[in-house]
Amino acid sequence: MVAFVRFRSIDRAAGAHVETIAIASDHAGLDLKDLLAAQLRVDGFDVLDLGVKDATSVDYPDYADRLADALARGPARRGVLICGTGIGISIAANRHAHVRAALCHDATTARFCRAHNDANVLALGARTTGVEVARDCLKVFLATAFEGGRHARRVDKLARVREPQPG
Ligand code: RB5
Repeated sequence: MVAFVRFRSIDRAAGAHVETIAIASDHAGLDLKDLLAAQLRVDGFDVLDLGVKDATSVDYPDYADRLADALARGPARRGVLICGTGIGISIAANRHAHVRAALCHDATTARFCRAHNDANVLALGARTTGVEVARDCLKVFLATAFEGGRHARRVDKLARVREPQPG
């Protein structure tokens, strides 16, 4: 992981492309969001912080929508969403056809959500996942490539919006 961090820093120093990561949370995720945003900057990423900015109670779907819209606009292609459990904000994000948000609780789920599901959003629960585990999830999520192959066919099917089928 150290090598990965150095590589990102060299990218910035050389004026090469620096990836932008979008991040957003509700009030329950504020502290973890700020901590992970700071970690991302240290690791050489540009950060698009879409709020919240303080602990005023808000509705998590609004912040999932903000991040989904930001991914559609670019330049950020990947993002991080945080609420109390990560459940509500990941459900809301996955209402957008271009979003594949994965609620992760450890580095293993973070690895497979990239390798097999090509997840473009990491969802975390600030009340259910410890800070160090959340850091590990983020680093692994960003460092793991999609494997493609048989997984690509399955991921393509995730973008379908389906109505209930009769019978
Ligand atoms: C807010 O209290 C809480 O419900 C929210 O952060 C999240 O856990 C919902 O899934």
